[in-house]
Amino acid sequence: MKILVTGGTGYIGSHTVVELQAQGHEVIIVDNLSNSEREVVDQIALISGIRPAFEELDLCDQSKTDALFAKYPNIDGIIHFAAYKAVGESVANPMIYYRNNLQSLMNTIDGMRKYNISNLVFSSSCTVYGQPEVLPVREDSPVQAAFSPYGNTKQISEEILKDSVNAYAGLNVIALRYFNPIGAHPTALIGELPLGVPNNLIPFITQTAIGLRQQLSVFGSDYNTPDGTAIRDYIHVVDLAKAHVIAVDRMTKGKGKSNFEVFNLGTGNGFSVLEVINSFEKVTGEKLNYKLVDRRPGDVEQVWADTTFANEELGWKAALTLDEMTLSAWKWELRLQEKRNSK
Ligand code: NAD
Ligand code: WQD
Repeated sequence: MKILVTGGTGYIGSHTVVELQAQGHEVIIVDNLSNSEREVVDQIALISGIRPAFEELDLCDQSKTDALFAKYPNIDGIIHFAAYKAVGESVANPMIYYRNNLQSLMNTIDGMRKYNISNLVFSSSCTVYGQPEVLPVREDSPVQAAFSPYGNTKQISEEILKDSVNAYAGLNVIALRYFNPIGAHPTALIGELPLGVPNNLIPFITQTAIGLRQQLSVFGSDYNTPDGTAIRDYIHVVDLAKAHVIAVDRMTKGKGKSNFEVFNLGTGNGFSVLEVINSFEKVTGEKLNYKLVDRRPGDVEQVWADTTFANEELGWKAALTLDEMTLSAWKWELRLQEKRNSK
C-alpha cells in the first residue's frame, strides 16, 4: 500500500515509517521540518534499507498541499502526525497552535476529498480525558474541557473528523489516543528531539543524567497515589508505531466497525514518576539528581488506559516494558551526546 505520513520525520512519525516499511508499505513523508530534521530520512533509510520519498512542505499552505496530492496519486491511506505539541507554548501562543494544528488537518481532509483518498489515521491524545473519574480510562469515557489550547486542538480535530466522515461518503477515520509515548528505536538511530529545555519527563531525566540539566524537579509528591507522585501510562514508541500500521491496514482492508473509530494506545499499566526514575537508575546504572517540588499546574493526578478495545479489535498489545523504554531513551541520549561532542 502507498501511505502518506504527515509529520513523518518527527518523533512518532519516524518510528511509524520504519514499521510501515517493515510491513512492505511504500511511504511518502511530508514534513515542514518545524520540529524535526532532514537527516531523519537518512536514518530511516539506514534502519530499513529503503529510502522513503520526502517532501518538505507546510500543510497549512493549501496550494502546495494540493500539489502534493496531485504529485502522488493513488494513496491508500494517510497517517496524520503533523502538529505542534508543546502544551506550555500553546498556552502562551494559542493562535499559532489553532492555526497550525487545525489548518493542516483541514487542508489534508480537502486533499483527501479531491483526490479520493479514503483512509486517515489521526494522532489524538489521552489529554482529551482530563482527569477521568473512572480508571483505567475507556474510549467511551467523557471528553473533558481541555486544560490547554494544544489539548483543545486535539478535541476540535476529533470533532472536525467526526463531522467530515458524516458529511463525506467514503471517508474513514481512526483516531488513536496516545497515552505517554517514550523511548526510542533499539538502533538509537531515531528518537525524540526536544527543542530547548524539555517539558516532558523522559527527556528531562536523560538530559539530567548526561549533565545537560542540573537537577530533575519531580512535580508533586502529595498526590493520592501509593508513593505520592503522579501516575501515567508510558508506552514504548515502537509499540505505538506498530499500532498505526495495524490501524491503517484495518481501514484499507475495510475491517472497521464504523467510519469513525477511536482507540486508546497505552500499555494499560500506570507508573509513578518515582517508579520511572527507579527504572531509569536500575537499567542505566546512573544516579539521577532529583528533588521533590510542588505540583505542576494543570497536571492530572493519575491516568492510565483500558486497552481492551485496542487489544481485541486491533489484535495489538503493547509488548515492551518500562525498563526497555527507559533503556532505549538512555541509548538515544548517548547518541545525541556523541553528535553534540562531534560538533
Ligand atoms: P513531533 O514534533 O516530533 O512531530 C511532528 C512533526 O510534524 C514534526 O516533524 C514537525 O516538523 C511536523 N509538522 C508540524 N506542523 C507541520 C505542518 N504544518 N506541516 C508539515 N509538517 C508539520 O511530535 P510527535 O511527538 O512525533 O507527535 C506526533 C503527533 O502525535 C502530534 O500530532 C502530537 O500532537 C501527537 N501526540 C504526541 C504525544 C507525545 O507525547 N509525543 C502524545 C499524544 C499525541
Ligand atoms: C509526565 C509526569 C509530570 C517533567 C504531556 C502532555 C500530553 C501528552 C503527553 C501530547 C507528570 C512529571 C514531568 C518534569 C516531572 N502530549 N514530570 N518533572 O504531562 O503526562 O503529558 O505529554 O498529547 O498532552 O500534557 O507528560 O512527560 O510532561 O509528564 O515530575 O520535569 O512527569 O508532572 O506527572 P504529561 P510529561
